[in-house]
Amino acid sequence: MENNAETYQDAPLSIDTATGQAAEAELSSERVKHIFATIAKKYERFNAISSFGSYKLWLAGMMRQADIQPSDNVIDIAGGTGDVTFSVARAKHPAHIQCTDLVDEMLDVARAHRQTGAGGDVPIDFEVVDAQDIPYGDASFDALTMAYGIRNMPKRQQALSEMYRVLKPGGSFTCLEFSTPPNPLWRGLYHFYLKHLIPFWGGLITGDRDGFVYLSKSIEAFPDQREFAKMLEEAGFADVQWKNYTGGIAAVHTARKPE
Ligand SMILES: C[S@@+](CC[C@H](N)C(=O)[O-])C[C@H]1O[C@@H](n2cnc3c(N)ncnc32)[C@H](O)[C@@H]1O
Repeated sequence: MENNAETYQDAPLSIDTATGQAAEAELSSERVKHIFATIAKKYERFNAISSFGSYKLWLAGMMRQADIQPSDNVIDIAGGTGDVTFSVARAKHPAHIQCTDLVDEMLDVARAHRQTGAGGDVPIDFEVVDAQDIPYGDASFDALTMAYGIRNMPKRQQALSEMYRVLKPGGSFTCLEFSTPPNPLWRGLYHFYLKHLIPFWGGLITGDRDGFVYLSKSIEAFPDQREFAKMLEEAGFADVQWKNYTGGIAAVHTARKPE
């Protein structure tokens, strides 16, 4: 837990997502909009690098854990270029998916994938939505998914409360995020890799070193598995559990809004 600048009890209402320290929300929101609007077209390559090539494996794990039924209305938060949305469509075939993101340039890539057949015959709508202020009514969705989203949000507790609000009682929450390896040796190696190699390697391949520097910092500043679970409970979620992937480099948290 040594890297986590934020704990749910003493977390300020808004933070700098690169450091975990108190800061105006605009600082992180403007940075994140700039980063994702700039890299939207090369995001999928960026994702492959930033997840160390493991994102397919982790996404498959997320799909196995997600409790989504064919009759469900699903919301994908921070859906980006649609990876999770289209995986949910393939794996679960729900009644409808609302794919949302803060950055329209990311959704444009998702819309382009959709036009070439991604998501099959599952009805999917795309909309720009800030997860910290969701423009949908209470209890609108049966299931919520989010991958690599919450780490980029400066008002995290507010965002989790919003997600809780739009879920129906009994609704499922599934979140994939970078996390903290519990084994100190593995954690040390991983943090060395994050700090020194990822910005260099990622920058070389995509030409966007700043995005990778931000990525490394935001991962180090993000709460570990247990702290994030407590944040979910603080927002009202029950049955909070997590499963680690690649020794805790990533984790999938699942939870439920009580009936
Ligand atoms: C690393 S990408 C993940 C995209 C996608 N979920 C995936 O798995 O590939 C993070 C996404 O979070 C979005 N995002 C950041 N802050 C957000 C917010 N406050 N509300 C909604 N989306 C946000 C970004 O625009 C970006 O598309």
